[in-house]
Amino acid sequence: MSAPITRGALLVTGGAGFIGANFVLDWLAREGDPVVTLDALTYAGNLANLATVARDPRHTFVHGDIADRALVARLLREHQVRAIVHFAAESHVDRSIAGPDAFVKTNVLGSFALLEAAREYVGTLPDSARAAFRFLQVSTDEVYGSLGPQDPPFSETTAFDPRSPYSASKAAADHLASAAWHTYGLPVLTTHCSNNYGPFQFPEKLIPLMIRNARRGERLPVYGDGQQVRDWLHVSDHCSALRAVLARAAPGSRYNIGGSSERPNLEVVRTLCALLDELSPRTDGASYAAQIAFVTDRPGHDRRYAIDQRRIAGDLGWQPQVRFEQGLRDTVRWYLEHEDWVRTVESGEYRRWLDLNYTGRDPGPAGHGSPDTSSGHADTRSQATGGGSDKARTASAIPPDAGTAPASRKGHAR
Ligand code: NAD
Ligand code: TYD
Repeated sequence: MSAPITRGALLVTGGAGFIGANFVLDWLAREGDPVVTLDALTYAGNLANLATVARDPRHTFVHGDIADRALVARLLREHQVRAIVHFAAESHVDRSIAGPDAFVKTNVLGSFALLEAAREYVGTLPDSARAAFRFLQVSTDEVYGSLGPQDPPFSETTAFDPRSPYSASKAAADHLASAAWHTYGLPVLTTHCSNNYGPFQFPEKLIPLMIRNARRGERLPVYGDGQQVRDWLHVSDHCSALRAVLARAAPGSRYNIGGSSERPNLEVVRTLCALLDELSPRTDGASYAAQIAFVTDRPGHDRRYAIDQRRIAGDLGWQPQVRFEQGLRDTVRWYLEHEDWVRTVESGEYRRWLDLNYTGRDPGPAGHGSPDTSSGHADTRSQATGGGSDKARTASAIPPDAGTAPASRKGHAR
């Protein structure tokens, strides 16, 4: 039996994607409020992610675009929405390099349309409902730019310095959301999280791509020297942080969310290989690490992200709960148990993307062509692709006019 509906609904945009789906499932498992998921089902959106709530009377799925203001206005009105949790985005940096147009369209113009629809709707609400309304802008730490090894982590007052078309488009949306708060009083909350990992992540991102490629006997493509650092946040911790922000953060506030798990990419890939060696060994007895291949770096590759999360800990009492080693083990298990899920999201579009991004990526800098699999330590032999906050500038394997392959539309009527 579903819990009684006591309050208005949440409108979750991008709820068929990785973090959005985890958030919807988590919300419905813990809270009583109904959820309306609005998702355009691009290549990254997959209704199978929401299969377990398909018959939950508190959940409504709507196939549509955040830029469709009439549709959004109707949903806000009909479902008496009390909060928008805005995940919908083009989210992959490499795709933004290959074809930035879609990023400007969805992340900037789509977010603007959503903010405008929210502003109009809030203007129609009685005072108490207007005061309770929230627009949660889910953003990224990438808007802050790139850190050197000794730089202090990003805080909420770090100036924006986006370096990729993806992060620039997210920064633009964050500015528009901030403007809506300051100018019109729309009760906006903004969060900047670090790299998420966990179930349902599309296999274009580092961790699921490596698991997929390892299992298929394909190379594990490490960009540049593999010493770029990311702070890994388990998606369940991200969801709990977003619930805390929705429940307790003051309108107009901004919070960073991290996993307290900074790791160089090469270390992450080697840990994945060790986990796969243990949980699903290769039939020839060799380590999956033998498949690691250093390839041409990503242009403009941000060197390091790190999060100072004293504000969310102090104000909201939130801390990440999942240790990276345990979270990664659970994630590897999930992917091994859901290889059918990976196959279903591998559309023709996905295979075209793999060809576009990886075919012809030359081997990486000298000395990195064959990995040293005997060492448990990250390979730091060459800094040829740049260190500190200076970005790598090796030639791109991606033609500048390659464009983003068309999204595969799935047959779900609105
Ligand atoms: P994702 O690519 O897995 O999912 C995005 C979802 O948005 C998909 O379901 C897609 O169909 C939907 N979508 C795209 N364009 C749309 C449109 N015009 N209208 C409606 N729906 C649309 O992304 P994710 O990894 O789940 O990221 C979710 C949000 O979190 C994004 O805003 C992203 O910038 C942010 N974020 C992600 C990470 C991460 O590590 N994945 C880190 C920081 C911030
Ligand atoms: P990604 O998962 O694309 O997230 P982001 O670029 O938003 O941080 O990449 C994480 C890190 O892994 C990033 O430093 C790029 C690197 N990477 C590789 O080395 N090889 C790959 O094939 C991919 C997809 C990423």
